[in-house]
Amino acid sequence: MKIAMIGSGYVGLVSGACFADFGHDVVCVDKDQSKIDRLNANIMPIYEPGLDALVKTNVDAGRLSFSTDLAGSVKGCDAVFIAVGTPSRRGDGHADLSYVYAAAKEIGEAIDPKTVVVTKSTVPVGTGDEVERIIRDVRPDLEFEVVSNPEFLREGAAIGDFKRPDRIVVGTDTEWAREVMRGVYRPLFLNESPILFTSRRSSELIKYAANAFLATKITFINEMADLCEKLGANVQDVSRGIGLDNRIGSKFLHAGPGYGGSCFPKDTLALLKTAQDNDTPVRIVEAVVQANDLRKRAMGRKIVNALGGDARGKRIALLGLTFKPNTDDMRDAPSIAIVQTLIDAGAEVYAHDPEGMEEAAKILPQVKMTESAYAAAQGADAVAIVTEWDAYRALDLAKLKGVMKGDVLVDLRNIYRPEEGAKAGFDYYSVGRSC
Ligand code: UGA
Repeated sequence: MKIAMIGSGYVGLVSGACFADFGHDVVCVDKDQSKIDRLNANIMPIYEPGLDALVKTNVDAGRLSFSTDLAGSVKGCDAVFIAVGTPSRRGDGHADLSYVYAAAKEIGEAIDPKTVVVTKSTVPVGTGDEVERIIRDVRPDLEFEVVSNPEFLREGAAIGDFKRPDRIVVGTDTEWAREVMRGVYRPLFLNESPILFTSRRSSELIKYAANAFLATKITFINEMADLCEKLGANVQDVSRGIGLDNRIGSKFLHAGPGYGGSCFPKDTLALLKTAQDNDTPVRIVEAVVQANDLRKRAMGRKIVNALGGDARGKRIALLGLTFKPNTDDMRDAPSIAIVQTLIDAGAEVYAHDPEGMEEAAKILPQVKMTESAYAAAQGADAVAIVTEWDAYRALDLAKLKGVMKGDVLVDLRNIYRPEEGAKAGFDYYSVGRSC
């Protein structure tokens, strides 16, 4: 099949490369000429494990190409995916749909009859109706269909998630469009990935509901962690103990410094705004958003408290800055609020991150970036593990302690056992383990 992916950001690029790998003929389109030039030179605009190799294989095989020419690229396509950004709008927290609507108009002007236009960007309920209206406005007599097909891939594991999804959700009531979407995803349901057909609006809401539910699970276990610290319990045991109940499930129950990233913060906020606008407040999601915001600064205070409550003139090393491992993405990373809290408390902050330092330096100019975990810890009063990169899971703790001035280790991801910290001579703190 012939597919155009409009928007070569995270979702567009991963999806486009994976569709090409299925054997489809794919063109990824972007307005940013320099991004397209770099992609043509096999330079990825993002760090995602395996993506450069996947892109190269499919470009070499002639199945994947990159272009800035939207009109030329959508000609003759079976499906045109809209995968442009939907950032939070400044001021009111609603999703900014201007890129989606601009793409819809250009697509409408250029597609051939019987093309399926698919919204893959995360868009509020009702956006598909508006995309349809925009296209209908420019081409009143055209036969086309607008389908919702949300993406559930995680950064850092995106290719695996795309190729082995728990489910594929397709929102359309039109049979011929369903048939096109079955063709697009055929290799996956040969692998027995379930495909769920719903109405367009249900599909749009599924995406927000899924992210809000996962964010709720994380926030719930984070609050249990705080309670564990007060009550002398261990959150990892609590998490295991509840997660083994199939009705609850063990995933997304790791306590930490709060969720970040390009999706959960933005999508929870957009969902609650939509709900408020429709006079149906989602109070649980409101509480989740508030609790998570407060948590990030509270993690900064946790580090200050570990230093005896006074961080003035103290040197603190952060290990990990990105919102999670295996990405260079700094969007809404807990490290941002943690750094602000530490700086406000008068500390000097040093940091290391395997992939995120370039991005982080733009957002956190106050932080001194270093070349390794040990270099960050040199002369530090406290070290805090903020992101659970594999590189930090097997640190030589005695060596780390040896280069420091102080002895405080705050493990915000619980990647070490308290005994290991103590054995290396640390005054060791973690999350929800009452030590
Ligand atoms: C998330 C969803 O997991 C994907 O299904 C979805 O497609 C994506 O958003 C999206 O909407 O595009 P992602 O943001 O890449 O994916 O990362 P996650 O692995 O979900 O982690 C999000 C945040 O939650 C991170 O800050 C992570 O550290 C935190 N987290 C996750 C926890 O604190 N505890 C957990 O148990 C799991």
